[in-house]
Amino acid sequence: MTVAAGTAGDLAPLDVVCAAAGISLAVPPGSSVLEAVRAAGLEVPAACADGCCGLCETRVLEGVPEHRDGVLTAEERTVGETMMICVSRAATSRLVLDL
Ligand code: FES
Repeated sequence: MTVAAGTAGDLAPLDVVCAAAGISLAVPPGSSVLEAVRAAGLEVPAACADGCCGLCETRVLEGVPEHRDGVLTAEERTVGETMMICVSRAATSRLVLDL
């Protein structure tokens, strides 16, 4: 899927480190983190690709996610320990994910 444009986080590439896999990649504007990690060859479970099912929930090790899903509670968003990588991006230029 393509992330809807319209926020500052969409206009710049996002650096993502997949800590478990030991790879770094750039998520271009207009692409999702899910698309980028799958293009890099990682198997990541996902169903809706729309931020609704929670299947792609991923632990955030470093960085601040910009949540765009409909799954996490307000408290979970504030804590920022996980994110739905099919729709959410980042408020920071870099994220380290438990992938
Ligand atoms: S694939 Fe459903 S929330 Fe990400």
